[in-house]
Amino acid sequence: MIRKTLLLSCAISLASTMAFAELPALAKKDHYKVGFAQTESNNPWRIAETKSFKDTAKSCNWDLVYTDAAGSAAKQVSDVDSMIAQGVDIIFLPPREEKPLLPAVLRAKAQGIPVMLVDRSVDANVAKAGRDYVTFLGSNFIQQGQLAAQWLIKNANGKGKIIELEGTTGSSPANDRRKGFDDEIAKNSGMTILASQSGDFARDKGRKVTETLLQAHPDVDVIYAHNDEMAIGAIQALEAAGRKPGKDVLIVSVDGTRDALQAIIDGKMGVTVESSPFFGPLACKTMKRYANGETIEPWVRVTDRIFTIANAAKHIDEAY
Ligand code: AHR
Repeated sequence: MIRKTLLLSCAISLASTMAFAELPALAKKDHYKVGFAQTESNNPWRIAETKSFKDTAKSCNWDLVYTDAAGSAAKQVSDVDSMIAQGVDIIFLPPREEKPLLPAVLRAKAQGIPVMLVDRSVDANVAKAGRDYVTFLGSNFIQQGQLAAQWLIKNANGKGKIIELEGTTGSSPANDRRKGFDDEIAKNSGMTILASQSGDFARDKGRKVTETLLQAHPDVDVIYAHNDEMAIGAIQALEAAGRKPGKDVLIVSVDGTRDALQAIIDGKMGVTVESSPFFGPLACKTMKRYANGETIEPWVRVTDRIFTIANAAKHIDEAY
């Protein structure tokens, strides 16, 4: 703990001493050496994001340096350091957690390598787009939580006893999807969050956490999962306990995976708020704008749809 606090304060003071240094430029070239430091590959969302970067490497003429941190923020830090040592032209980074990746982002800047954060962000109190890194390409996670809550409030007639399955502790989607959802729910006196626990964005952990929480809270009638993989795990736990997902327990989630759309079609899930993993083309376009000398806005926003029984069948063939 003391070590973590020390590391963070070192990062904060490094950030403030470097605050006035210009962001590194990106030369205009036909061919780039591009780093993409993935967090892990244990779910369809991450696999689809990696595929999007690999496909874009061909169409955008990149020599892609790809790493997989296998679920470890420490490994992701050393992956970024290795990309810096290899002299990549630019790094695209989804920081697994908000705080631990910060020093690596600052080291890349110090070595003249621009960083664009993709899909996840770092702690906004410490690092700023346009100063410490170029931009953040991604969804509005707070709004995703709000949309999930609004659908629920409407479809459960303002009543519900909720279990919340949180994503990876300390990650921006877990922090923001919780905030967006919990703040909306707090406005409704008929709705209560009985328990909230991390399932690390993983199916198996979502299943195990649901099994435990079901025993402590048998009166639950809603499960809100911060991603579809945990929602599918929750469906498995409910069915094993003889409960009917979609009937006696409503399931609300985020992402838009193929399995989630199928669960909606099967009547087991109510809604999934889209969170697109297809960042490759946007990364290519934003990088070209930056190389052309454009000032990039701090947040290149991705807009998301919601999938329900009204449109799941129409979109399942595009899902991953
Ligand atoms: O950062 C986006 C989240 O990360 C996705 O919702 C989740 O499935 C993934 O692991």
